[in-house]
Amino acid sequence: MAQSWVNSAERIGVDLHLELSRSGSRRGALTGALRDAVRSGRLAPGTRLPPYRALAADLGVARNTVADAYAELVAEGWLTARQGSGTRVAERARPPEPSGGPASPRTAVPVRSRGPVHDLRQGAPDASAFPRAAWATAYRRALNAAPVAAFGPGDPQGRIELRTALTEYLARSRGVRAEPGRIVICSGFAHALRLLYGEKVLRGPLAVEEYGLGFHRELLAGAGVRTIPLPVDEHGALVGELGALGAGVRGVLLTPAHQFPTGGPLHAERRAAVVDWARRRDGLVMEDDYDGEFRYDRKPVGAVQGLDPERVVYVGSVSKSLSPALRLGWMVLPEHLVAEVVAAKGEREGWASALDQLALAEFLSSGAYDRHVRRMRQRYRGRRDLLVAALAERAPWVRVSGIAAGLHAVLRVPSGRERDVVEAARGRGISVDGLAEFRHPGVRGEREGGVVVRGEDGVVVGYAAAAERAYGVAVEALCGVLERCGGSDGGRR
Ligand SMILES: Cc1ncc(COP(=O)(O)O)c(C=O)c1O
Repeated sequence: MAQSWVNSAERIGVDLHLELSRSGSRRGALTGALRDAVRSGRLAPGTRLPPYRALAADLGVARNTVADAYAELVAEGWLTARQGSGTRVAERARPPEPSGGPASPRTAVPVRSRGPVHDLRQGAPDASAFPRAAWATAYRRALNAAPVAAFGPGDPQGRIELRTALTEYLARSRGVRAEPGRIVICSGFAHALRLLYGEKVLRGPLAVEEYGLGFHRELLAGAGVRTIPLPVDEHGALVGELGALGAGVRGVLLTPAHQFPTGGPLHAERRAAVVDWARRRDGLVMEDDYDGEFRYDRKPVGAVQGLDPERVVYVGSVSKSLSPALRLGWMVLPEHLVAEVVAAKGEREGWASALDQLALAEFLSSGAYDRHVRRMRQRYRGRRDLLVAALAERAPWVRVSGIAAGLHAVLRVPSGRERDVVEAARGRGISVDGLAEFRHPGVRGEREGGVVVRGEDGVVVGYAAAAERAYGVAVEALCGVLERCGGSDGGRR
């Protein structure tokens, strides 16, 4: 016997009639009904599916049941899930051509979608793990406790409640020497760069690690800042080379906890050396602590900022720990920069919602942030272990470099193989990036046919973004690609 529901078009944007079998699990029934709807063409390629919450409400099932069904169908290739555009029917999951008879299992296999089927992009945390209930509790408590003034124009330095909570949290968890008066709230690391360099509080040229986010380099270039690449190895940036740069270079941007993306932590001697260099040059170190809370093999090393708060601008955000959707971050500044940075933000807070700030303050001081980070640390650690074990078994010619930390890993492949692997993976609907995409365009290495071949090539794999149930399937798919790429000669063809 089947039960059917019709969802209202106004609420969910698509009129969706589903027949759910009453036998078996709710999740299985929903997955089957959606699969049938796509397979038969009733749901056309590109159709946007209802948000979890809306469909769950209409069907009277738990939100997780819908989330799990969607994840399964994404992994199978029937649906695609992209940040910002929701879950859609895969473009090429077309119904089989009419053949006069029922579709055979062969014709029903979905053709690859144009969007990634297996989400192994670096960058985002597991969006399905956002702590909705705990955040809602913190938000409600913050709203109830907020003074009336909190609903007026905001202080550009940020809410004192949040700056106070961060002072305690950052000292405890990251060894940052902060006080509320030195913290300026921003919308994330990119915003910090815009404020410091775009608004000319600081001026270039700026030394940067030779591997990093192209988006950050472009942002600096747009602000007229010339960036000079600094080599990196397994111990982070070779800061000893800073001395050889012209006297005009008085700033360096580093990711000391976990070099992005190559994965080495900045060596203790280099941490001290870079601070000494900044003192001698009357310069500054910008510390991007983007994933410092996520270290799996031991306790994370504290921030470089702790060595000299007057020589380091420390920047963090919730983009990896909670969600990049919140757009909340913080700068811990040398005292002499605070007034200028606050002035650069404008007369009132124009970036970070004062109410979100209050919610984060509550989330931090209630211990919910620690609990969430601990939970995610366990989850990501498990995912990293799964990836490493699967590679060791199925693609031993690949080496995972960098420390056990963060939300991504770099798979080292022999020189000249990076592009093949990335393209083969993408061809199978697996979204990964080659290390070359993170390389500073000014890097000069040994060149071979126009390609820089310093050291090995690499493939950057994000193990956080996929939903829990989709991750194992994605790793399987990646190993399949690597097996095919490697062949019997250990990938040296
Ligand atoms: C290297 C690096 N720095 C910083 C960030 C955080 O950026 P934002 O705070 O602007 O979201 C990210 C991404 O989350 C990153 O990959």
